[in-house]
Amino acid sequence: MHIFTGTAQEWDHKAALEIVQQIKDKPDTVLGLATGSTPVNMYRRLIEMHRAGQVSFSKVKTFNLDEYVGIPREHPCSYYYFMQENLFSDIDIPPESVSLPDGNAPDLEEECRRYEKKIADSGGIDLQVLGIGHNGHIGFNEPNTPFESVTGIVDLTQSTIKANSRFFESEDQVPRQAVSMGIKTIMHARKIILLAKGADKADIIQKALQGPITPEVPASVLQLHPNLLVFLDNEAAARL
Ligand code: GLP
Repeated sequence: MHIFTGTAQEWDHKAALEIVQQIKDKPDTVLGLATGSTPVNMYRRLIEMHRAGQVSFSKVKTFNLDEYVGIPREHPCSYYYFMQENLFSDIDIPPESVSLPDGNAPDLEEECRRYEKKIADSGGIDLQVLGIGHNGHIGFNEPNTPFESVTGIVDLTQSTIKANSRFFESEDQVPRQAVSMGIKTIMHARKIILLAKGADKADIIQKALQGPITPEVPASVLQLHPNLLVFLDNEAAARL
């Protein structure tokens, strides 16, 4: 595990450079992408580097970690919408090269199987970007999700519903379920970048990186990954 700390601006830049280098080394990289507030500025840096001619996404394929169940793609809180707004519409990635789970599929179980297979058929994820929830969730894999889990339908915990209600008009409007890549799916990525910023993440970052490896803290499984890079601002790193 390699841990980089610094100001939030420093790590936004460093993490974006890591992704750019990955794409330079392998132009047809398969990227796993995350939503949430944490990666937004890193995505801005990627857009700037793309505009400066430093990187092309024309051969890249992406798979997002997760999507809410039951809100339309056009809804401003859908992860599809988030990715269009924060990255895809400002880079040269072909629309057919981006994938998110379809949280409105008529048969969600079938959709989970399809998504897992599509990732495998692409050759697997080269570089997975991850944020972390306050309870240690990665993707939407909440505490006590088995480490062997693959893409599936998950029930959100009350604390996640509350945390994510800041993006919705009210807590009632937050979907109760999501489709998420599983922990095994995430761990299969050849390289993982875990991102966290802010004092409110300091406790869970300490538990995830230095505590026991247990499904009670889903992100603790990352300690077992052979190629993990962690980018933390000084506040999130405060308890290490
Ligand atoms: C959300 C997402 C996660 C994300 C996490 C943290 O629920 N499903 O992929 O990492 O919460 O979000 P934030 O970066 O806004 O703290």
